[in-house]
Amino acid sequence: MNSKIKIAPSILACDFSNLSNEIVEIDKAGADFIHLDIMDGHFVPNLTFGPPIIKSIRNKTKLIFDAHLMVSNPDNLIQEYIGAGADIVTVHVEACKHLHRTLSHIRMLGCKSGVALNPHSEISSLPNILDVVDLILVMTVNPGFGGQSFIKSMLPKIESIKNMIGDRNILLEVDGGITSATAPLVKQAGANVLVAGTSIFKDGNHKMYHKNIESLRR
Ligand code: DX5
Ligand code: ZN
Repeated sequence: MNSKIKIAPSILACDFSNLSNEIVEIDKAGADFIHLDIMDGHFVPNLTFGPPIIKSIRNKTKLIFDAHLMVSNPDNLIQEYIGAGADIVTVHVEACKHLHRTLSHIRMLGCKSGVALNPHSEISSLPNILDVVDLILVMTVNPGFGGQSFIKSMLPKIESIKNMIGDRNILLEVDGGITSATAPLVKQAGANVLVAGTSIFKDGNHKMYHKNIESLRR
């Protein structure tokens, strides 16, 4: 099931003044997930959007909503994001005191659970949560902003996690600086969900979205 590459456009790079239409266009263009970058101005030095915006676009597409919570204390917010329509809720390992409990809680609420690792974070805590996680997200930039350069030294980390996952039904997602040049490297290392903002939404020309998506998938 995990062998097919999934593309998750991050709407952080879309035209927010035309959000509803951007969702419709990216769905038509062949996206697999919609990646939602939630930033709180505390865990990361930037602010984006929250549950009301997610709720407002939920009926524009049937695609999976992949919510990436770059927030401190995510536990208090999880229910709200699920209520707004998130299908996968990913929390940061650095933001959770009781990661196993948080991931179990996400699942208990009927949602898929994800854990994200910043570039500096070790993978040593992962073996202890493999029984409660559906997706592992390797940050290939420092979170907070779109349009940054891919950190190549993350490739061995992706490979190690791929080996750790083995034949378990856990998705391996990468996020940050994914372009047609870096996509082959992360796929080779074992990633099967590619998040991309800039390289898909660049120029804001929706006629190019399909081509941009396929250039990452191929
Ligand atoms: C970074 C976000 C990413 C980012 C990806 O904090 O988690 O999803 O928007 O954007 P690009 O593809 O532009 O690096
Ligand atoms: Zn993200």
